[in-house]
Amino acid sequence: MQKLIIDGKKILSGSIKISGSKNSTLPILAATILNNHSTIKNIPFVNDIITMLNLLKFIGLKYKISKKKNSVEVINSNKKINTVAPYKLVKTMRAGVLVLGPLLGKYKKAKVSLPGGCAIGTRPVDLHLFALKKLGAKIKIKNGYIFASALNGLKGTKFKFPKISVGATENAILASVNAKGTTIIENCAIEPEIIDLVNFLKKLGIKIKIFKRRITIKKSLVEKKISHKVICDRIELGTYIIGGALTAKKLKLKNINPNLIKKEIYILKKMGVKMKINKNYIIVYKSKNIKKVTIKTDPYPGFPTDMQAQIMILMTQAKGLSKIKESIFENRFMHVPELKRMGAKIDIRNNTAFISGPNSLTGAEVMATDLRASVSLVLAALIADKRTKINRIYHLDRGYYELEKKLVKCRAHIKRI
Ligand code: EPZ
Repeated sequence: MQKLIIDGKKILSGSIKISGSKNSTLPILAATILNNHSTIKNIPFVNDIITMLNLLKFIGLKYKISKKKNSVEVINSNKKINTVAPYKLVKTMRAGVLVLGPLLGKYKKAKVSLPGGCAIGTRPVDLHLFALKKLGAKIKIKNGYIFASALNGLKGTKFKFPKISVGATENAILASVNAKGTTIIENCAIEPEIIDLVNFLKKLGIKIKIFKRRITIKKSLVEKKISHKVICDRIELGTYIIGGALTAKKLKLKNINPNLIKKEIYILKKMGVKMKINKNYIIVYKSKNIKKVTIKTDPYPGFPTDMQAQIMILMTQAKGLSKIKESIFENRFMHVPELKRMGAKIDIRNNTAFISGPNSLTGAEVMATDLRASVSLVLAALIADKRTKINRIYHLDRGYYELEKKLVKCRAHIKRI
């Protein structure tokens, strides 16, 4: 197993090109099932994306990667389609369940492995199935698989999600585009990644309107050759802004859209982070007087759960007691015991972390547990004295494109062994 060895307390400086969004690319790749010829640009070739491409190949689609152009061309000749997502692919990446909606809508049946729980929580798929049933699908669970069918096709309808879910909203949209008539879905997730998926689908002639948390879909899908550029990864951007605020003389983050992270910018500015914000870049400087803050993770436009672990590192450097309540996942503080081993003062009560600062961190041997927890350990290691060894870094490779390369270019001391 690979490890990262990081020597902390180095002053970073330089520029980083932010990659395309992993969480936008995954549903858009699932959406390529609906079309005959799609080119997707600005793709981060992280491991989760490769897994999704392998899943499309298993289903019967063909793809051609251009690493130089960060793009992939996906062709669905609609021949020899295998409407199955097997356990071996879905177990390594939950987003595999996103092929359920497009397969069922287009080919009227699908067999998709249940993804199961993961480190950050139980993560059920009941809301995905709730939406598909409302659209007229018959669902059975057997031998760890979801068997979905709609032999006469899905039918447009109106329903409301009892809880906001990103993946269930995506699956519902991806199924509805092949439902007869109009579908109106209430209480949807409206993350920028969902808007990106909708913009991809609009290129196929589908009429989709978003008003507050209501999405209206009218079927008029026309398969054609289209091209789509994925939005920037707002979580990668937020991660490097915090990296810069902790360590940088001057760090320029390029290829971005600051409108995607309005809430994060508001909170970071409140904490005293020094930034210059431009239309397509942000420059961030190490901030000396970080202020305490109380926040709560929430669905977009709230503060993202995917940034909770990273902002916690900034909170260790803030004066006073900062608080962060995790309201999306029930077990997303696994980085805390590792951070405590590095000297952080953090208590957890009722899914809220209480962080006392400012507090110097010291290098230690730590274990990465999920994607965002892993990157928070990298941020902690960058400010810790001496050397930190991070074990199990395969989580990082699932979601951060060329992390060490980007940081080393900015003078961080990081080695992979
Ligand atoms: C997406 O996961 C992201 N993944 C996650 O990013 C992100 O943390 C999450 O949304 C929340 O923003 C991708 O986009 C690929 P949810 P998703 O359905 O869709 C519960 C990262 O680090 N729920 O919005 O799986 C669920 O358990 C990852 O990049 C149900 O109860 O998240 C959770 O508590 C990790 N039943 C809450 O809803 C369901 O059927 C929100 O989950 C579905 C979800």
